[in-house]
Amino acid sequence: MPFQLHLKRVESEGDWAAYHGIRRRVLWEDRGLTGYDERHPDDRLAGNHPLLLIRDGAPVGTARLDVVGPRLGIVRLVAIEAGLQRRGLGRALMGKVETYAHGLGLAQLEVNAARDAEEFYQKLGWATMQADRKNPLMVKALDAVGTQS
Ligand SMILES: CC(C)(COP(=O)(O)OP(=O)(O)OC[C@H]1O[C@@H](n2cnc3c(N)ncnc32)[C@H](O)[C@@H]1OP(=O)(O)O)[C@@H](O)C(=O)NCCC(=O)NCCS
Repeated sequence: MPFQLHLKRVESEGDWAAYHGIRRRVLWEDRGLTGYDERHPDDRLAGNHPLLLIRDGAPVGTARLDVVGPRLGIVRLVAIEAGLQRRGLGRALMGKVETYAHGLGLAQLEVNAARDAEEFYQKLGWATMQADRKNPLMVKALDAVGTQS
């Protein structure tokens, strides 16, 4: 039977714990970084949407969608649990984030991509706008959202 996947806005204390846990493990510890801040104010700002990908009831991925203009959003801190990467969950997460963003009335998304994730975004239709940065700026228009899974 295929997995049930859905996107959930972080709300409960359990959601916050899962969200921070995935981000700390994947984006900090697995990269040899320290200093992850669970109390960073940006996670609680109005207009910033902390999101969890849930697979069969269990959190498996995160993203945050920051609304920065009437039609523009920035996707930040995208992560899939290490043992579950390269199985299509990142693609599913981004498809659901795009649909969520479209539902908010956004027309374009940006991401400051990790260098080793640039190809991932390219495969999902994102275009590199500024490559000469530590984190290449990539963009995706949302016109076609709703036609994808
Ligand atoms: C980047 C990440 C979110 C992708 O999620 P994922 O579940 O591994 O990706 P998927 O399995 O859905 O892959 C979708 C496609 O992208 C490709 N892909 C995934 N990660 C890739 C990478 N790092 N480099 C090149 N291609 C990649 C897959 O091979 C797949 O290609 P296909 O459709 O031709 O088979 C995940 O690997 C991750 O959390 N990485 C560590 C944190 C990170 O770099 N986050 C991005 C910060 S901007």
